[in-house]
Amino acid sequence: MERDPFDWTDDEARRRERSGLVRTLRPRPAESGLLDLASNDYLGLTRHPAVTGAAAEAARRWGAGATGSRLVTGSTELHADLERELAAFCGFEAALVLSSGYAANLAALTALTARDSLLLSDAGNHASIVDGCRLSRAETVVVPHAEPEAVRKTLDAHAGRRALMVSDAVFSVDGDAAPLGELAEVCRTRGAALLVDDAHGLGVLGAGGRGTPDAAGIAGASGVVATVTLSKSLGSQGGAILGPARVIGHLVNAARTFIFDTGLAPAAVGGALESLRLLRREPARADRAREVARTLHRLLTGAGLTAVRPDAAVVSVRAPSPEAAVRWAAECRAAGLLVGCFRPPSVPDGVSRIRLTARADLTDQQIGTAVDTIVSLAPGDAS
Ligand SMILES: Cc1ncc(COP(=O)(O)O)c(C=O)c1O
Repeated sequence: MERDPFDWTDDEARRRERSGLVRTLRPRPAESGLLDLASNDYLGLTRHPAVTGAAAEAARRWGAGATGSRLVTGSTELHADLERELAAFCGFEAALVLSSGYAANLAALTALTARDSLLLSDAGNHASIVDGCRLSRAETVVVPHAEPEAVRKTLDAHAGRRALMVSDAVFSVDGDAAPLGELAEVCRTRGAALLVDDAHGLGVLGAGGRGTPDAAGIAGASGVVATVTLSKSLGSQGGAILGPARVIGHLVNAARTFIFDTGLAPAAVGGALESLRLLRREPARADRAREVARTLHRLLTGAGLTAVRPDAAVVSVRAPSPEAAVRWAAECRAAGLLVGCFRPPSVPDGVSRIRLTARADLTDQQIGTAVDTIVSLAPGDAS
Protein backbone atom coordinates (compact mmCIF):
# COMPACT_ATOMS: atom_id res chain seq x y z
CA MET A 1 0.00 0.00 0.00
CA GLU A 2 1.28 3.46 -0.88
CA ARG A 3 2.07 5.68 2.06
CA ASP A 4 1.50 9.45 2.03
CA PRO A 5 4.99 10.95 2.45
CA PHE A 6 3.65 13.55 4.90
CA ASP A 7 1.85 11.17 7.29
CA TRP A 8 4.54 11.97 9.84
CA THR A 9 3.23 15.54 10.16
CA ASP A 10 0.10 14.13 11.88
CA ASP A 11 2.32 12.42 14.47
CA GLU A 12 4.15 15.69 15.02
CA ALA A 13 0.85 17.57 15.36
CA ARG A 14 -0.36 15.08 18.01
CA ARG A 15 2.93 15.42 19.87
CA ARG A 16 2.61 19.22 19.89
CA GLU A 17 -1.01 18.94 21.05
CA ARG A 18 -0.02 16.69 23.98
CA SER A 19 2.73 19.12 25.08
CA GLY A 20 0.62 22.28 24.78
CA LEU A 21 2.88 23.60 22.01
CA VAL A 22 0.49 24.10 19.09
CA ARG A 23 1.03 27.40 17.25
CA THR A 24 -1.71 29.01 15.21
CA LEU A 25 -1.90 32.08 13.02
CA ARG A 26 -4.46 34.72 13.98
CA PRO A 27 -5.03 37.38 11.32
CA ARG A 28 -4.71 40.88 12.81
CA PRO A 29 -7.37 43.38 11.82
CA ALA A 30 -6.09 46.86 10.97
CA GLU A 31 -7.83 48.26 14.05
CA SER A 32 -8.10 45.50 16.66
CA GLY A 33 -9.14 47.75 19.53
CA LEU A 34 -6.81 45.74 21.78
CA LEU A 35 -4.26 47.34 24.09
CA ASP A 36 -1.04 46.11 22.48
CA LEU A 37 1.82 45.01 24.72
CA ALA A 38 2.96 42.28 22.34
CA SER A 39 4.38 44.08 19.33
CA ASN A 40 8.01 45.12 19.05
CA ASP A 41 7.05 48.66 18.06
CA TYR A 42 9.00 50.00 21.06
CA LEU A 43 8.87 53.65 20.09
CA GLY A 44 5.34 53.66 18.69
CA LEU A 45 6.60 54.61 15.22
CA THR A 46 5.14 51.98 12.92
CA ARG A 47 1.95 54.04 12.36
CA HIS A 48 3.51 57.46 12.79
CA PRO A 49 2.24 59.59 9.86
CA ALA A 50 5.76 60.75 8.96
CA VAL A 51 6.96 57.13 8.82
CA THR A 52 4.03 55.71 6.83
CA GLY A 53 4.20 58.79 4.58
CA ALA A 54 7.90 58.23 3.88
CA ALA A 55 7.26 54.53 3.21
CA ALA A 56 4.46 55.37 0.75
CA GLU A 57 6.57 58.03 -0.97
CA ALA A 58 9.48 55.58 -1.33
CA ALA A 59 7.19 52.97 -2.90
CA ARG A 60 5.79 55.57 -5.32
CA ARG A 61 9.27 56.75 -6.30
CA TRP A 62 11.19 53.47 -6.40
CA GLY A 63 8.50 50.79 -6.78
CA ALA A 64 6.83 48.26 -4.51
CA GLY A 65 9.81 45.93 -4.65
CA ALA A 66 13.58 46.38 -4.93
CA THR A 67 13.54 44.51 -8.29
CA GLY A 68 16.64 42.41 -7.61
CA SER A 69 19.65 41.69 -5.48
CA ARG A 70 21.38 44.80 -4.16
CA LEU A 71 24.35 43.81 -6.34
CA VAL A 72 22.28 43.70 -9.54
CA THR A 73 19.40 46.21 -9.54
CA GLY A 74 18.15 46.48 -5.96
CA SER A 75 20.38 49.13 -4.41
CA THR A 76 18.66 52.53 -4.41
CA GLU A 77 19.95 55.90 -3.17
CA LEU A 78 17.62 55.34 -0.22
CA HIS A 79 19.53 52.20 0.80
CA ALA A 80 22.78 54.18 0.74
CA ASP A 81 21.25 57.05 2.77
CA LEU A 82 19.94 54.63 5.39
CA GLU A 83 23.32 52.89 5.65
CA ARG A 84 25.19 56.16 6.06
CA GLU A 85 22.79 57.61 8.64
CA LEU A 86 22.39 54.37 10.60
CA ALA A 87 26.16 53.86 10.86
CA ALA A 88 26.69 57.48 11.97
CA PHE A 89 23.85 57.31 14.52
CA CYS A 90 25.06 54.07 16.11
CA GLY A 91 28.73 55.12 16.03
CA PHE A 92 30.09 52.65 13.47
CA GLU A 93 32.15 53.30 10.37
CA ALA A 94 29.81 51.63 7.88
CA ALA A 95 26.58 49.67 7.54
CA LEU A 96 24.94 47.19 5.19
CA VAL A 97 21.15 46.89 4.90
CA LEU A 98 19.64 43.43 4.33
CA SER A 99 16.10 42.12 4.00
CA SER A 100 15.72 41.17 7.69
CA GLY A 101 17.52 40.98 11.01
CA TYR A 102 17.44 37.21 10.57
CA ALA A 103 19.26 37.49 7.24
CA ALA A 104 21.72 39.93 8.82
CA ASN A 105 22.67 37.41 11.51
CA LEU A 106 23.03 34.60 8.97
CA ALA A 107 25.17 36.90 6.79
CA ALA A 108 27.52 38.00 9.57
CA LEU A 109 27.93 34.54 11.09
CA THR A 110 28.59 32.75 7.81
CA ALA A 111 30.79 35.38 6.17
CA LEU A 112 32.91 36.29 9.20
CA THR A 113 33.89 32.72 10.09
CA ALA A 114 35.65 29.90 8.26
CA ARG A 115 35.34 26.15 8.74
CA ASP A 116 38.35 26.14 11.05
CA SER A 117 37.09 29.15 13.08
CA LEU A 118 35.90 28.90 16.64
CA LEU A 119 32.43 30.37 17.23
CA LEU A 120 31.35 31.09 20.80
CA SER A 121 27.61 31.61 21.24
CA ASP A 122 25.76 32.63 24.41
CA ALA A 123 23.28 29.96 25.56
CA GLY A 124 20.44 32.52 25.51
CA ASN A 125 20.95 33.71 21.94
CA HIS A 126 18.12 34.24 19.47
CA ALA A 127 17.14 31.46 17.04
CA SER A 128 18.56 33.40 14.08
CA ILE A 129 21.99 33.30 15.75
CA VAL A 130 21.64 29.59 16.48
CA ASP A 131 20.81 29.02 12.81
CA GLY A 132 23.68 31.26 11.68
CA CYS A 133 26.11 29.22 13.80
CA ARG A 134 24.84 26.00 12.23
CA LEU A 135 25.04 27.41 8.73
CA SER A 136 28.57 28.71 9.29
CA ARG A 137 29.95 25.18 9.70
CA ALA A 138 32.51 26.60 12.15
CA GLU A 139 33.10 24.73 15.41
CA THR A 140 30.52 26.25 17.76
CA VAL A 141 30.89 26.28 21.52
CA VAL A 142 27.75 27.34 23.42
CA VAL A 143 28.95 29.33 26.43
CA PRO A 144 26.90 29.81 29.63
CA HIS A 145 24.55 32.78 29.58
CA ALA A 146 26.16 36.21 30.23
CA GLU A 147 29.43 34.83 31.64
CA PRO A 148 32.51 36.65 30.25
CA GLU A 149 34.71 34.40 32.39
CA ALA A 150 33.47 31.34 30.48
CA VAL A 151 34.26 33.16 27.23
CA ARG A 152 37.76 33.95 28.49
CA LYS A 153 38.42 30.32 29.44
CA THR A 154 37.17 29.01 26.11
CA LEU A 155 39.26 31.50 24.12
CA ASP A 156 42.33 30.71 26.21
CA ALA A 157 41.82 26.99 25.66
CA HIS A 158 41.83 27.64 21.88
CA ALA A 159 44.51 30.37 21.77
CA GLY A 160 45.76 31.12 18.25
CA ARG A 161 42.55 30.16 16.45
CA ARG A 162 40.46 32.64 14.53
CA ALA A 163 37.52 33.20 16.88
CA LEU A 164 34.24 35.11 17.03
CA MET A 165 32.00 35.54 20.06
CA VAL A 166 28.32 36.23 19.33
CA SER A 167 25.76 37.51 21.80
CA ASP A 168 22.38 39.17 21.88
CA ALA A 169 22.89 42.65 23.36
CA VAL A 170 19.47 42.44 25.02
CA PHE A 171 18.15 38.90 25.31
CA SER A 172 14.76 38.53 23.70
CA VAL A 173 13.34 36.10 26.25
CA ASP A 174 14.01 37.83 29.59
CA GLY A 175 15.05 41.32 28.44
CA ASP A 176 18.37 41.26 30.32
CA ALA A 177 21.41 42.96 28.76
CA ALA A 178 24.67 41.15 27.99
CA PRO A 179 27.85 42.29 29.80
CA LEU A 180 29.11 43.83 26.54
CA GLY A 181 31.94 45.90 28.03
CA GLU A 182 33.51 42.84 29.66
CA LEU A 183 32.90 40.63 26.64
CA ALA A 184 34.55 43.21 24.36
CA GLU A 185 37.58 43.41 26.63
CA VAL A 186 37.98 39.61 26.81
CA CYS A 187 37.69 39.40 23.02
CA ARG A 188 39.99 42.37 22.37
CA THR A 189 42.79 41.04 24.57
CA ARG A 190 42.61 37.64 22.86
CA GLY A 191 42.31 38.79 19.25
CA ALA A 192 38.74 37.52 18.90
CA ALA A 193 35.94 39.36 17.10
CA LEU A 194 32.73 40.27 18.91
CA LEU A 195 29.38 40.15 17.09
CA VAL A 196 26.52 41.81 18.96
CA ASP A 197 22.87 41.41 17.96
CA ASP A 198 21.25 44.69 19.00
CA ALA A 199 17.73 43.88 17.79
CA HIS A 200 16.22 44.94 21.13
CA GLY A 201 18.71 47.68 22.03
CA LEU A 202 18.60 50.00 19.02
CA GLY A 203 16.21 52.85 19.76
CA VAL A 204 15.98 51.96 23.43
CA LEU A 205 19.47 51.86 25.00
CA GLY A 206 22.44 54.22 24.57
CA ALA A 207 22.32 58.01 24.21
CA GLY A 208 19.01 58.88 22.54
CA GLY A 209 18.55 55.22 21.52
CA ARG A 210 21.92 54.82 19.78
CA GLY A 211 21.97 51.20 20.90
CA THR A 212 23.66 48.87 23.36
CA PRO A 213 27.18 49.12 21.85
CA ASP A 214 26.95 52.92 22.38
CA ALA A 215 25.76 52.37 25.98
CA ALA A 216 28.67 49.97 26.59
CA GLY A 217 31.23 52.31 25.00
CA ILE A 218 32.23 49.77 22.33
CA ALA A 219 30.51 51.23 19.25
CA GLY A 220 33.03 51.63 16.45
CA ALA A 221 35.74 49.51 18.09
CA SER A 222 37.83 47.75 15.46
CA GLY A 223 36.93 44.21 16.55
CA VAL A 224 33.20 44.80 17.06
CA VAL A 225 30.39 44.19 14.57
CA ALA A 226 26.69 44.66 15.35
CA THR A 227 23.51 43.44 13.71
CA VAL A 228 20.21 45.28 14.09
CA THR A 229 16.68 44.86 12.90
CA LEU A 230 14.64 47.68 11.38
CA SER A 231 11.44 45.91 12.41
CA LYS A 232 11.31 46.74 16.11
CA SER A 233 12.04 50.27 17.39
CA LEU A 234 12.27 51.66 13.85
CA GLY A 235 8.78 50.35 13.13
CA SER A 236 9.61 49.13 9.63
CA GLN A 237 11.11 45.91 8.25
CA GLY A 238 14.60 44.74 7.38
CA GLY A 239 17.98 44.37 9.04
CA ALA A 240 21.48 45.78 8.97
CA ILE A 241 25.08 44.97 9.88
CA LEU A 242 27.28 47.71 11.35
CA GLY A 243 31.05 47.62 11.61
CA PRO A 244 34.41 48.68 10.19
CA ALA A 245 34.26 49.63 6.49
CA ARG A 246 36.59 46.77 5.52
CA VAL A 247 34.29 44.24 7.23
CA ILE A 248 31.23 45.67 5.47
CA GLY A 249 33.15 45.51 2.17
CA HIS A 250 33.89 41.85 2.84
CA LEU A 251 30.22 41.12 3.57
CA VAL A 252 29.13 42.68 0.26
CA ASN A 253 31.38 40.16 -1.46
CA ALA A 254 30.90 37.11 0.74
CA ALA A 255 27.57 37.11 2.61
CA ARG A 256 25.22 34.80 0.74
CA THR A 257 22.03 36.12 2.40
CA PHE A 258 23.01 39.53 1.04
CA ILE A 259 24.24 38.51 -2.41
CA PHE A 260 21.47 36.03 -3.30
CA ASP A 261 18.53 37.86 -1.73
CA THR A 262 16.36 40.59 -3.23
CA GLY A 263 17.20 43.97 -1.71
CA LEU A 264 15.02 45.37 1.05
CA ALA A 265 11.82 46.90 -0.39
CA PRO A 266 12.10 50.69 -0.85
CA ALA A 267 9.03 51.32 1.33
CA ALA A 268 10.71 49.56 4.25
CA VAL A 269 13.93 51.50 3.68
CA GLY A 270 12.08 54.82 3.48
CA GLY A 271 10.06 54.05 6.62
CA ALA A 272 13.14 53.03 8.63
CA LEU A 273 15.07 56.11 7.48
CA GLU A 274 12.25 58.41 8.57
CA SER A 275 12.02 56.64 11.96
CA LEU A 276 15.73 57.10 12.45
CA ARG A 277 15.46 60.82 11.68
CA LEU A 278 12.48 61.09 14.03
CA LEU A 279 14.42 59.41 16.81
CA ARG A 280 17.29 61.85 16.30
CA ARG A 281 14.81 64.73 16.66
CA GLU A 282 12.96 63.15 19.61
CA PRO A 283 15.53 61.24 21.70
CA ALA A 284 13.23 61.20 24.74
CA ARG A 285 11.27 58.37 23.10
CA ALA A 286 14.10 55.98 24.07
CA ASP A 287 14.03 57.12 27.72
CA ARG A 288 10.26 56.74 27.88
CA ALA A 289 10.36 53.12 26.58
CA ARG A 290 12.80 52.22 29.38
CA GLU A 291 10.71 54.06 31.95
CA VAL A 292 7.56 52.18 30.89
CA ALA A 293 9.44 48.87 31.21
CA ARG A 294 10.66 49.71 34.71
CA THR A 295 7.14 50.71 35.76
CA LEU A 296 5.60 47.51 34.37
CA HIS A 297 8.20 45.44 36.19
CA ARG A 298 7.73 47.29 39.50
CA LEU A 299 3.94 46.96 39.43
CA LEU A 300 3.90 43.31 38.34
CA THR A 301 6.51 42.09 40.82
CA GLY A 302 4.85 44.25 43.50
CA ALA A 303 1.70 42.20 42.86
CA GLY A 304 3.65 38.99 43.48
CA LEU A 305 4.52 37.89 39.91
CA THR A 306 8.03 36.77 38.91
CA ALA A 307 9.89 38.80 36.26
CA VAL A 308 13.55 39.57 35.54
CA ARG A 309 14.39 43.28 36.00
CA PRO A 310 14.32 44.70 32.46
CA ASP A 311 17.46 46.33 31.06
CA ALA A 312 15.61 47.60 27.98
CA ALA A 313 11.95 47.37 26.92
CA VAL A 314 11.21 43.63 27.19
CA VAL A 315 9.41 42.48 30.35
CA SER A 316 8.86 38.72 30.72
CA VAL A 317 6.63 37.26 33.41
CA ARG A 318 7.04 33.62 34.37
CA ALA A 319 4.20 31.17 33.78
CA PRO A 320 3.99 27.79 35.50
CA SER A 321 3.63 25.74 32.27
CA PRO A 322 3.24 26.15 28.49
CA GLU A 323 -0.50 25.45 28.82
CA ALA A 324 -0.87 28.06 31.58
CA ALA A 325 1.06 30.62 29.49
CA VAL A 326 -1.24 30.03 26.48
CA ARG A 327 -4.36 30.24 28.66
CA TRP A 328 -3.11 33.38 30.44
CA ALA A 329 -2.34 35.14 27.14
CA ALA A 330 -5.71 34.05 25.66
CA GLU A 331 -7.62 35.33 28.69
CA CYS A 332 -5.74 38.64 28.51
CA ARG A 333 -6.70 38.90 24.83
CA ALA A 334 -10.36 38.18 25.66
CA ALA A 335 -10.11 41.00 28.22
CA GLY A 336 -8.76 43.40 25.56
CA LEU A 337 -5.01 43.12 26.21
CA LEU A 338 -2.53 41.66 23.74
CA VAL A 339 0.55 40.03 25.31
CA GLY A 340 3.18 37.72 23.87
CA CYS A 341 3.44 34.08 24.86
CA PHE A 342 6.86 32.40 24.88
CA ARG A 343 7.06 28.61 25.13
CA PRO A 344 9.57 25.95 24.13
CA PRO A 345 11.29 25.85 21.70
CA SER A 346 11.48 29.69 21.82
CA VAL A 347 12.78 29.61 25.39
CA PRO A 348 16.18 27.93 25.78
CA ASP A 349 15.61 27.20 29.49
CA GLY A 350 12.23 25.51 28.92
CA VAL A 351 10.41 28.03 31.16
CA SER A 352 7.28 29.50 29.58
CA ARG A 353 6.49 33.18 29.97
CA ILE A 354 4.07 35.84 28.97
CA ARG A 355 6.07 38.60 27.40
CA LEU A 356 5.30 42.29 27.42
CA THR A 357 6.93 44.99 25.36
CA ALA A 358 7.09 48.45 26.84
CA ARG A 359 6.13 51.02 24.23
CA ALA A 360 7.17 54.65 24.56
CA ASP A 361 3.67 55.77 23.58
CA LEU A 362 1.81 53.90 26.36
CA THR A 363 0.06 56.22 28.79
CA ASP A 364 0.21 55.70 32.56
CA GLN A 365 -3.47 54.79 32.46
CA GLN A 366 -2.85 52.10 29.82
CA ILE A 367 0.02 50.71 31.89
CA GLY A 368 -2.31 50.50 34.92
CA THR A 369 -5.01 48.75 32.89
CA ALA A 370 -2.49 46.26 31.50
CA VAL A 371 -1.09 45.43 34.93
CA ASP A 372 -4.56 45.02 36.48
CA THR A 373 -5.58 42.65 33.69
CA ILE A 374 -2.42 40.54 33.86
CA VAL A 375 -2.51 40.26 37.65
CA SER A 376 -6.22 39.47 37.87
CA LEU A 377 -5.89 36.68 35.27
CA ALA A 378 -2.64 35.21 36.58
CA PRO A 379 -2.69 31.43 37.11
CA GLY A 380 -2.86 30.55 40.81
CA ASP A 381 0.68 29.17 40.79
CA ALA A 382 2.32 31.97 38.73
CA SER A 383 4.23 33.68 41.54
C1 LIG B 1 17.41 39.10 19.05
C2 LIG B 1 16.81 39.05 17.68
N1 LIG B 1 17.62 38.95 16.62
C3 LIG B 1 17.14 38.91 15.38
C4 LIG B 1 15.79 38.96 15.13
C5 LIG B 1 15.30 38.85 13.72
O1 LIG B 1 14.97 40.10 13.21
P1 LIG B 1 13.94 40.22 11.99
O2 LIG B 1 12.58 40.04 12.58
O3 LIG B 1 14.18 41.56 11.42
O4 LIG B 1 14.28 39.12 11.04
C6 LIG B 1 14.90 39.08 16.19
C7 LIG B 1 13.46 39.16 15.92
O5 LIG B 1 12.61 38.67 16.58
C8 LIG B 1 15.42 39.11 17.51
O6 LIG B 1 14.61 39.20 18.56
